Amino acid sequence: MTQETKPTLQHLSTDAWQELRLLAEPTSSSFVDVFMATNIHKNKIRRGQRFLDIGAGGSDATKRLLELGADAYAVDPAYVDVSTLYEKIKRANSYHSVSPFINRSNNALEGFKNSVSSNPERYIAASADELPFRDNTFDVVYSRAAIMDNLDIVWNLFSDSIDESIRVTKPGGTVRLFAFKFEDPLLPPRINRTRLDNQTRKIRDLASSAVIKAIEVVKFDSVRNAITFQKA
Ligand SMILES: C[S@@+](CC[C@H](N)C(=O)[O-])C[C@H]1O[C@@H](n2cnc3c(N)ncnc32)[C@H](O)[C@@H]1O
Repeated sequence: MTQETKPTLQHLSTDAWQELRLLAEPTSSSFVDVFMATNIHKNKIRRGQRFLDIGAGGSDATKRLLELGADAYAVDPAYVDVSTLYEKIKRANSYHSVSPFINRSNNALEGFKNSVSSNPERYIAASADELPFRDNTFDVVYSRAAIMDNLDIVWNLFSDSIDESIRVTKPGGTVRLFAFKFEDPLLPPRINRTRLDNQTRKIRDLASSAVIKAIEVVKFDSVRNAITFQKA
């Protein structure tokens, strides 16, 4: 059992949930999308390997990881009310014209829903900056379009989320943060610059204090990026 015994946010009232910094609309990326974002190859997943998906939304990545024998968990504050999360994503997907991505997303959402019914203990309502896990628990901690792209807009939330990600990762384990963009076209350039400066500063500070090593920025194309750290 990797989860600490302290109560998860599932035990909190709706009012308490409203106070959470729920900064992004949930989406449901498929395992394929998460795999592309995290470079986790399904043939390389070891039985019992511990994964944590932060800000997982309606993704089916945890379901697929469990099927592959991994010891996988997903956290998202929206898990305080999974039915609402499901309906929201379903509605959002219906506004898009049919495309391979939306079909994949809808399939992922159904997989997610089934997996939550069969493995509710794997889907924990929690915020990235307060993870209900012990130190040094996971081999791989990843976040797709949640810590980067969304939480990074608020410095404390970003900073605490990075610290928490590293805290729950085993020494030698990997943290992988995927972003669709490092710059948001909807934000003024000044804000984008501050955002980038803060991210870089945070990561440089951690590296110089030897908490992390082997930092790698993977550019998938002109807009999609991932930052990977290895915990020292
Ligand atoms: C764009 S969605 C990405 C969902 C999923 N990772 C995917 O790839 O489909 C962003 C997610 O971040 C979650 N989120 C918002 N605030 C959060 C927080 N404080 N801690 C963790 N996740 C959060 C949202 O509920 C949402 O599911």
